[in-house]
Amino acid sequence: MKITVIGTGYVGLVTGTCLAETGNEVVCVDVDKVKIEKMRDGVVPIYEPHLDVLFERNIKANRLTFTTSLDKGLEHGDIVFLALPTPEDEDGSADLSYVLGVAEEIGKKIKDYKVIVDKSTVPVGTAEKVNATISKNASCDFDVVSNPEFLREGYAVDDFLKPERIVIGASSEKATKLMERLYSPFVRSGNPIIVMDEKSAELTKYAANSFLATKITFMNEIANYCELVGADVDKVRAGMGSDSRIGKRFLFPGIGYGGSCFPKDVKALQKAGADANYDFKILEAVIGVNSKQKTILLPKIENHFNGNLSDIKIAIWGLAFKPETDDIREAPSIDMMNALLEKGASLSVFDPEAMPNIKAKFGDKLHYASSMYEALENADSLLICTEWSIFRTPDFNKIKSLLKEATIFDGRNLYDVQLMQKEGFNYTSIGRKE
Ligand code: UGA
Repeated sequence: MKITVIGTGYVGLVTGTCLAETGNEVVCVDVDKVKIEKMRDGVVPIYEPHLDVLFERNIKANRLTFTTSLDKGLEHGDIVFLALPTPEDEDGSADLSYVLGVAEEIGKKIKDYKVIVDKSTVPVGTAEKVNATISKNASCDFDVVSNPEFLREGYAVDDFLKPERIVIGASSEKATKLMERLYSPFVRSGNPIIVMDEKSAELTKYAANSFLATKITFMNEIANYCELVGADVDKVRAGMGSDSRIGKRFLFPGIGYGGSCFPKDVKALQKAGADANYDFKILEAVIGVNSKQKTILLPKIENHFNGNLSDIKIAIWGLAFKPETDDIREAPSIDMMNALLEKGASLSVFDPEAMPNIKAKFGDKLHYASSMYEALENADSLLICTEWSIFRTPDFNKIKSLLKEATIFDGRNLYDVQLMQKEGFNYTSIGRKE
């Protein structure tokens, strides 16, 4: 099939590359000339495991090409994906100007039937707006479909190739059939393609992300309470999670959720609710609790150093909002670093992938270590903000020899509490007996 993907951010790029992998001819369109040139040379502009192999293979096979010309893109595709940014507006709602701007152009430019697919996370009613915007100028038939993505950063290729479900919001049978044909290679295992109306599809995405953010936040509150009453959140999690109605996943407490999706989507759904005169109390609580959770370790660090961090050097492992990404958007590490800097601490930081992004944001306020162990040199204690695999089984003797004192504040519960005691660490984690 002939596919066009407009917008080569994380969603567009993964979508385009994975659709090329099943034999489709994919043209990716972006306004960023430099980025398009780089991609033509085979450079993947984001860090996403396994994407580079598929990218190279499909470029070589000429199934994946790039252009800055919207005209060329629209000439090519029978199905046109909109994978455009929907940034957070000042009031928390999603800004649709990119999506509707491109829809306006599509209306003016298309000459034959196309399925226009909303792939970006967009508020309920967006498909309707896109439809109306294209209709203003369109001289041919078209359909607008909502097809939300459920890709996790770091696992996006796997999530795309083996989705647990595909959601298609469409009211036209012709468009539904085309979409089902496009996705059929990805659901051979029997996972469902769920077809529904456009609004329900749009809400499915917000509801899924908000539910997951709520699940994490609930567990963070249970962890905080565990500390007060002397219970162990690991045990509670295991006890709760083995109930299949609850499930084991997304119950890991820590220093809060971050990223480009959960924070934005929870706020956007809350705002959309308010606009419809519905008060999403639960989402308001989730936003508030998560914001506090990001710096939940700060008072503990301050207490440990008797309320004075001015001569204290803290090493930080992990800066990305989660492992396997270089993304630092809304990362809890940022809140922690800002709070610690404000208290006068000096910081020596390390992350396997996110260092350039952190450097661009913090400049010379931090010491950027070249390795996880170099970060520890002459530091008073270690703070862990992201659970990268390489931090899971470190050389504890080396840590002890490099740190001034054997103290670890662990925001991601990486280590066994008893093991840490045996190793002689002063170890603080989230919701566990120390
Ligand atoms: C999330 C969803 O999981 C995807 O399904 C969705 O498609 C995507 O948003 C999106 O809307 O595009 P992502 O933001 O990449 O994916 O990251 P997650 O793996 O979901 O993690 C989000 C945050 O929750 C991270 O900060 C992570 O550390 C935190 N988290 C996750 C926890 O604190 N505890 C957990 O048990 C799980």
